[in-house]
Amino acid sequence: MVYLTRLEHFNAAHKLYNPKWSKEKNEEIFEGCANENWHGHNFDLYVTVKGEIDPETGFVMNLKDLGKLMREYVIVRLDHKNLNLDVDFMQGKMASAEVLAIEIWKLLAPKLPEGVQMHCVKLFESHRSFVEYFG
Ligand code: NI
Repeated sequence: MVYLTRLEHFNAAHKLYNPKWSKEKNEEIFEGCANENWHGHNFDLYVTVKGEIDPETGFVMNLKDLGKLMREYVIVRLDHKNLNLDVDFMQGKMASAEVLAIEIWKLLAPKLPEGVQMHCVKLFESHRSFVEYFG
């Protein structure tokens, strides 16, 4: 089994806010991320897939194709968007990097070529903070 990773990038705005809580509790838990008028992140999205090497190409899958799938099914739906307001698959969910990573996995898993599987969605919200989801 060989693991293959592609990096794509997007910018998006969000706020972390639980509508069941008071403004005070939201600010206590989420601090600056609860800011009512949003804030943005430059996200780096690493998607790792796994599979056996195709002897004809020497590839697990073509990295260009993985990048294309990421852009077509994920990046265009997130880039320059507000995660809370603009993104259909985030409606009714907390707009955290954790939840987003799981949703990105669900979008990409069915699109991979036969014999290739998702291994990890790694989503950097900043240079110091990232989440990893392994399904
Ligand atoms: Ni944030």
